[in-house]
Amino acid sequence: MALAITPLTPSGFGAEVTGIDPTLQLDEETFRAVEQAWHDHAVLVFRDLAMTPEQQIAFTRRLGPLHIMVPLQYNLDGHPEIFVVGNAEEGGKAVGMRRAGMGFHSDGEDKAIPNAGSFLAAVQVPPEGGDTIFADTRAAWHALPRETKARLAGRRARFSRITLHHVHYPHLPALTDEQKRDRPDVWHPIARLHPRNSRVALYIGRWAVEIEGMAEAEGTALIAELCDVAHRPEFLYRHSWRPGDAVLWDNRCTQHCATSFDEERYTRRMHRTTLEGEAPVLASVAAAVAA
Ligand code: OGA
Ligand code: MN
Repeated sequence: MALAITPLTPSGFGAEVTGIDPTLQLDEETFRAVEQAWHDHAVLVFRDLAMTPEQQIAFTRRLGPLHIMVPLQYNLDGHPEIFVVGNAEEGGKAVGMRRAGMGFHSDGEDKAIPNAGSFLAAVQVPPEGGDTIFADTRAAWHALPRETKARLAGRRARFSRITLHHVHYPHLPALTDEQKRDRPDVWHPIARLHPRNSRVALYIGRWAVEIEGMAEAEGTALIAELCDVAHRPEFLYRHSWRPGDAVLWDNRCTQHCATSFDEERYTRRMHRTTLEGEAPVLASVAAAVAA
C-alpha cells in the first residue's frame, strides 16, 4: 500500500494519512513525507493504528524533543511521556484528566514555552459524542480585515491560568499558591510566526485575557471577536474518533476543542504525547499585515 495524503477540507486544512505501517515505525523517506504533510496541513489524521505506548513515543520523538506533563498525576505508569485524557478509571481511581480541553485552545498557550505539537491516540471512545474540533488559525489570521491586522500587529496578549482556572475547570480544585507561582501569566504575540515556514497564525485562545496597550474591556471584546473569526465553520475540521485513530496537530497554527459525551455511560481514554516548543515569535508588522 502506497503512502497517500488526502486533504480533509476544501482548503487543505487537515489531511488523512493512509498506506502506512500501523505501528508507525517508518523508514526515513516515509517519515519525512509525513512530517512535510504535517507542516503543510497542520493536522494529520491516522486511522486503524496499532501502536504500543513505546511506538507512539518513538514516532513523536522523531518530530522533536518530548514534553513531559507536570504534575505527573495523569501520566501513564512507566511512560511519563504519555499524558492520559478522559474519564477512564482503574481500581476506582481516575487514570486520565477528565474534561480536558473543553473550549478552543492550543496546548501550553498559558505557559512561557507552549508546546509545538501534540499527538493524541484514541484507546477507547464513546459510540457518540467526544469529537474533537480543530481550527485553522493561519486561515483565521488571513481572514481578518486589514485594519484589524494593522491594529494587532506587533502586539501581545496576556494569557492567564490564574484568572481563568476556575472558569475552565470548575470541577477541579482551585489553584494553590504554589501552583499560581508555577504558572504565572504570560504574554505572547498575537500574530505568531511559524518557525518552520514563516507563515503567520492568529495566536489567541481560551486563556487570553488582555491585549497589550488596550483598555481591559476593549481587549476582551477584541479577543472574543478574534475567537469568533477563528471558529467560523469554514476554518474547522471536526474529528469523530474510532479506536485506533490518532491525530497529530501543530499548536503553533491551530486550536482545538474537546466536545462532551455521556460520561455516566461511556468511557473515553486517549493517550497524548506532546512536543516541546519554543517561545512564540512575533511576526513583523509588515509580514503580519501582508499575511
Ligand atoms: C488535548 C485535548 C481534546 C480531546 O489532549 O490536548 O485538548 O478531545 N484533547 O480529548
Ligand atoms: Mn488540548
